[in-house]
Amino acid sequence: MGSDKIFVTRPFLPPLEEFLPYLERIWQSGRLTNGGPYHKEFETTLAEYLGVPHVCLFTNATIALVTALQALRITGEVITTPYSFVATAHSLLWNGVKPVFVDVDPCTLNLDPGKIEAAITPQTTAILPVHCYGHPCNVERIQRIADVYNLRVIYDAAHAFGVTDRDGSILKHGDLSILSFHATKVYNTFEGGAIVCPDRKSKERIDFLKNFGFADETTVVATGINGKMSEFNAALGLLQLKYIEHVLARRRHIDAAYRKGLSGIAGIECLPRQSEGRSNFAYFPILVNKEFPLDRDALYQCLLERNIHARRYFYPLISEFPMYRGLPSAQRENIPVAHAAADRILCLPIYPDLDSACLQHIIDAIRSVAAQTSAPAPVPAPLSTAVSA
Ligand SMILES: Cc1ncc(COP(=O)(O)O)c(C=O)c1O
Repeated sequence: MGSDKIFVTRPFLPPLEEFLPYLERIWQSGRLTNGGPYHKEFETTLAEYLGVPHVCLFTNATIALVTALQALRITGEVITTPYSFVATAHSLLWNGVKPVFVDVDPCTLNLDPGKIEAAITPQTTAILPVHCYGHPCNVERIQRIADVYNLRVIYDAAHAFGVTDRDGSILKHGDLSILSFHATKVYNTFEGGAIVCPDRKSKERIDFLKNFGFADETTVVATGINGKMSEFNAALGLLQLKYIEHVLARRRHIDAAYRKGLSGIAGIECLPRQSEGRSNFAYFPILVNKEFPLDRDALYQCLLERNIHARRYFYPLISEFPMYRGLPSAQRENIPVAHAAADRILCLPIYPDLDSACLQHIIDAIRSVAAQTSAPAPVPAPLSTAVSA
């Protein structure tokens, strides 16, 4: 460990020698993309593993999000969260749709269902929530609102690979769910993504859309894009599935070790565990509250000096970026919980190969900062106070 940098994540890769036979088969077949044999096999195997009806593979989740909105012909305004990676809202702008930011719930940091209805206007056509950190949204309440107002629901499930609730896969909720297989995610195909959809008809439309709109050799039925996953990524996806249970077990172990190691440190708050179903332990977010002697940014710097590269996901909020900050819904007073979270969140390193020495180094670093620094720094009030303020 010593002077090596510890990053917030490190992609899981299977042994190289196990990937080589897949490459040989690609070279033999000469099929590199456009729905080749690995693509077909991966779509079926992945749908089975996830326990979902249909999967459409994509080159990445951003193009999948853009395509999902196209597939459902979403227009006007869409209600979404400011507390996410910027691709969530960018997918709306790429479709000429106006994002309407609604605040998040202080426990889960997911879109607060209690605040959605007040943001609905005659122009609203859909809700785009995010299962942030892989933690399930309140899917029942969101669906009830969508049913009353006749809205579509598209879940950005980029963080939620393999997550279940009491009814099975979290990806079965809403009209469509979008996964990311980016290198930084729980499960990666180098780059990649998918749309989970409920029936053959919607799969067919999405498959046309991700292939320039081609329905057959000479017929173009929509203004499609090139969102296809290559054989190379699909082959890796198949091999990665063989290791997913190991990956999830390691993450569960690290999550438990952090919770134990950080317990009792005043001002360090771990986000609550998912109450039911299976978690994927995609991130390990902590909130740095006012009882901690340093504010979040000072702790972030202290960790950097110890070669620990934690990340402030999601700071700044999407609503702070230039293309969004002029929107009325982006104003700070409309989204106080999201701002309070963005100001104190820190995601600690979590990945399968994070060994116990590194893990202990991170826990010790936070403990030693807590012990050494005596004078409390001026930091904002806890999230619950910010909500009521
Ligand atoms: C919530 C969320 N949505 C969308 C994306 C975009 O995923 P991709 O990198 O596969 O395009 C990410 C990626 O980090 C994300 O975290």
